[in-house]
Amino acid sequence: LQPKRTLRLVLWTAEEQGGIGAFQYYQLHKVNISNYSLVMESDSGTFLPTGLQFSGSEKARAIMKEVMSLLQPLNITQVFCDGEGTDINFWIQAGVPGASLRDDLYKYFSFHHSHGDTMTVMDPKQMNVAAAVWAVVAYVIADIEEMLPRS
Ligand SMILES: *[C@@H]1O[C@H](CO)[C@@H](O)[C@H](O)[C@H]1NC(C)=O
Ligand SMILES: *[C@@H]1O[C@H](CO)[C@@H](O)[C@H](O)[C@H]1NC(C)=O
Ligand SMILES: *[C@@H]1O[C@H](CO)[C@@H](O)[C@H](O)[C@H]1NC(C)=O
Repeated sequence: LQPKRTLRLVLWTAEEQGGIGAFQYYQLHKVNISNYSLVMESDSGTFLPTGLQFSGSEKARAIMKEVMSLLQPLNITQVFCDGEGTDINFWIQAGVPGASLRDDLYKYFSFHHSHGDTMTVMDPKQMNVAAAVWAVVAYVIADIEEMLPRS
């Protein structure tokens, strides 16, 4: 499967130190901002997703709802508000639609920033579902004819 547009996976560094990696990336790439359809961030664990948080125009939100409806077989179709995240906020503030993975945070702060935060606490099935949500949304948005409308 090859979508019409490029998908880019970015592993930003130094988020906790003030979004330094995200700022550097923005500085280097904002020259091409008019070609960015959507920025997405996963920064709240990879537990069972409940949907996506989204920030963007009403038109873009309507399209995101259509895209998420493709995930009906997984029952993960909800589009919430507030897609912001430290590593994507520069883009969102400059007008690019943004989305964050929304998942079940019940256990997140049991591990977060602790020595218990290792791969062994991950549930592979839940991670697979989170990856599926990411892959479907990224692929479809990159493959639809038009970019997500900004207004
Ligand atoms: C910006 O886009 C142009 C034209 O597609 C490309 O040549 C250039 O490498 C891009 N710059 C960055 C920093 O990605
Ligand atoms: C956007 O993408 C098109 C198609 O690849 C390219 O021709 C154009 O130079 C790009 N514009 C910017 C600002 O990167
Ligand atoms: C589907 O998801 C909704 C919202 O998260 C939940 O309330 C409902 O119980 C789920 N249905 C099934 C069949 O899992």
